[in-house]
Amino acid sequence: MSDAIKLGFINFAKPDTGVLVLLADEQLRFGPQAQAALAGAGDLVSRAAETAAFKGKLGSALDILQPAGLAVSRLVVLGVGKADDLKARDFVRLGGLAGGKLGAGDRETLLFAELPEREVGAAEAAEIVLGLRLRTYTFDRYKTKRKEGEERPARGKVTFAVADAAAARRAWRAREAVADGVVLARDLVNEPGNVLFPEAFADRVVALKKLGLAVQVLDERALRKEKMNALLGVAQGSRRAPRVVVMRWNGGRRGAPPVAFIGKGVTFDTGGISIKPAASMEDMKGDMAGAACVTGLMRALAVRKARVNAVGIIGLVENMPDGNAQRPGDIVTSMSGQTIEIINTDAEGRLVLGDVLWYAKERFKPQFMVNLATLTGAIIIALGHEHAGLFSNNDELSERLLAAGQATGERVWRMPLGPEYDKMIDSKFADMKNTGGRAGGSITAAQFLQRFVDKVPWAHLDIAGTGIASPQTDINKSWASGWGVRLLDALVAEHYET
Ligand code: BES
Ligand code: MN
Ligand code: ZN
Repeated sequence: MSDAIKLGFINFAKPDTGVLVLLADEQLRFGPQAQAALAGAGDLVSRAAETAAFKGKLGSALDILQPAGLAVSRLVVLGVGKADDLKARDFVRLGGLAGGKLGAGDRETLLFAELPEREVGAAEAAEIVLGLRLRTYTFDRYKTKRKEGEERPARGKVTFAVADAAAARRAWRAREAVADGVVLARDLVNEPGNVLFPEAFADRVVALKKLGLAVQVLDERALRKEKMNALLGVAQGSRRAPRVVVMRWNGGRRGAPPVAFIGKGVTFDTGGISIKPAASMEDMKGDMAGAACVTGLMRALAVRKARVNAVGIIGLVENMPDGNAQRPGDIVTSMSGQTIEIINTDAEGRLVLGDVLWYAKERFKPQFMVNLATLTGAIIIALGHEHAGLFSNNDELSERLLAAGQATGERVWRMPLGPEYDKMIDSKFADMKNTGGRAGGSITAAQFLQRFVDKVPWAHLDIAGTGIASPQTDINKSWASGWGVRLLDALVAEHYET
């Protein structure tokens, strides 16, 4: 994976040039190595802190140019708050904050992973690196020039000084797999619809074979043979042929049932005949964020050789209006045999997922299924951009996802399901209709999906608010967040590896 910034580890050493990044707590205390590094500077830090009203709070930073008495050209002090309270995701955030301090001109940066009165372990150091890597991600593939004065992305080398460089390097190797998974997901989501259509997406997944993933691509003929008519109905208005891609990683016990991840991969959603308004329609290039997350996750699991059997399945289609497009009122027979009346061709994600969920369940008999989808605008109205909607038929799986959300900062909020909501999608003409009206729009969408999962433990994550047009955070400045890769990697690591 291309990486604008080079990363390295050393045991603590005296800094000589470039940028030095140190961590300080609320009493402006440093660890012993940092204190030694600051020896020549006298009371410079406390005077600068006074001037800048820097109090060492987590999230704050003090930036000192040409610090007198030190050889380095810049000293950055990151506040950590109370060192004892720091959790894994705070270390990720600290790395993000450090990454945000790097400019295009910074050739060499040395970050002391050290706290007052407390060691920074190898795993924690790796979290800092993860945050820095995610923060410095840029998607500038299509920029051919830069305006005068416009910031270039950070380059150069960042070295992490730690107590045990070899241990930190080892810990980073596993976290790097996850970072690269997030980066892949972001890249896929940021790509425009003319570049990343279903076949092109499938090709990018096939390229992951060299990392040890088994990849199978179902083309239109195969999809017809499987009777995935709900998915095919969405695709029929597009010049671009649909694909379903199955990724398998078998790192667990032989024959043990896999965990399954399913993603909505609408490479562009115009709404079809029920066409969307023009405003912000360009965002619908990101309507494959669920599929991108599944792909990034499977890559991460393979590269870090997770001890689990996992299958990732993505339904790739483009939703277009055309002479051959699906009409409101059409009735399709899904792979499950259940019939669906199309009320609104813009409610296409559930049609794709209905068939893919059924296929996953029949073909792989998974322990559980988690699907991700930019499924409804209504979830943005309900939860904004801070939580993904969690809908599930299983309390244990839900609890685990909620906990993984707290641990990683990719938070989910459980939403209700129930027979009253389910009734709202009964149809006059078919077994169900594909919309239930405006009220409870995210819930009726989830009820629709539930009709394709039977008794399998299942969770649906509606990521319309978190996967694209994401809020800017300390670890993400990109339009595409890569949301869900870290969450689901944590879920697997915590509960499903042997
Ligand atoms: N892809 C959209 C949902 C969406 C909207 C994702 C905004 C991200 C940002 C989905 O296919 C859709 O159009 N849903 C409709 C459903 C409605 C027609 C029942 C919606 O949310 O309006
Ligand atoms: Mn739609
Ligand atoms: Zn959509």
